Amino acid sequence: MSKRKAPQESLNEGITDFLVLANYEKNVNRAIHKYNAYKAASTISKYPHKIKNGEEAKKLQDGVGAKIAEKIDEFLQTGKLRKLEKIRNDDTSSSINFLTRVTGIPAAARKFVEEGVKTLELKKIEHKLNHHQQIGLYFEEFEKRIPRAEMEKMEQTLILGELEKVDQEYIGTICGSYRRAASSGDIDILLTHPNYTSQTEKQPKLLHAVVEHLESIGFVTDTLSKGDTKFMGVCQLQQNDEDEEEYLHRRIDILIPKDQYYCGVLYFTGSDIFNKNMRTHALEKGFTLNEYTIRPLGVTMAGEPLLVDSEKDIFDYIQYKYREPKDRSE
Ligand code: TTP
Ligand code: MG
Repeated sequence: MSKRKAPQESLNEGITDFLVLANYEKNVNRAIHKYNAYKAASTISKYPHKIKNGEEAKKLQDGVGAKIAEKIDEFLQTGKLRKLEKIRNDDTSSSINFLTRVTGIPAAARKFVEEGVKTLELKKIEHKLNHHQQIGLYFEEFEKRIPRAEMEKMEQTLILGELEKVDQEYIGTICGSYRRAASSGDIDILLTHPNYTSQTEKQPKLLHAVVEHLESIGFVTDTLSKGDTKFMGVCQLQQNDEDEEEYLHRRIDILIPKDQYYCGVLYFTGSDIFNKNMRTHALEKGFTLNEYTIRPLGVTMAGEPLLVDSEKDIFDYIQYKYREPKDRSE
């Protein structure tokens, strides 16, 4: 059986590598000719017999030229593509750009980088996407904005419906652009539970129980990363009889606030420009504000976190005029 694993025999498996390269050329380098060439190379998986070498692929498939034929040879002989290995090992901006395209929105790439995900996680994502053979599909779907009606439907079915099936006491809030009454690029859910305090060790369980339930009903379709307090993944609403079309795959983040709930709500509602401006103002007033806490600045270090019972409390501490979410674009 081990013979089956020989590179010549597993052309179909490697085809996804050519697709990744195709998308890389399109999305990172904007090299549409190279994109077309790699795409052509990937289509040879359709041939009913095993392709022996690049020369044969060149004859069979329009768009496969000498250069791509060489790549096919390299793949058939070594089982991998050096170019792709290089991209995978590249920790610099190009891989970050690639992540940007994977998730569709620049902010999401920043999130990955903040989490220290980089190329290591990229491999995981590729693995997932290869598995579903949906790379191309996901790229395009993530780039489409989510209509408000769809966001409202997700709020109804998930926040009001499914969460309470896991535990009646869960509190879920869709933050991000949705809370600011704008159209949305993704779904940002802040999740909490009365049993939760920053001291408890329970938060991974609280988060994972919800993620597992959403997986079991087929809403969460993929995981990009799963930590103790933050889940990043892919979701899709199920099509109903009254829906004309299938819903697209969407990016979803679920976050458990680490300390003060309302500091989390404020941060996760954004916008990121508004957050930046508010933090700057906080500093001017002698406070340090982040997604977890607000603390008074001391002479050498920040003091203890202040108690917060609403978003407005945070505005009040720093003497910043309260603004409704819809007025928080900057
Ligand atoms: P996003 O989902 O990236 O932004 P968004 O919901 O405002 O916009 P979109 O419709 O494109 O999804 O992040 C959610 C919030 O997290 C954002 O509104 C503010 C906060 N945030 C920052 O303050 N800084 C950052 O770098 C990121 C990534 C997010
Ligand atoms: Mg968002």
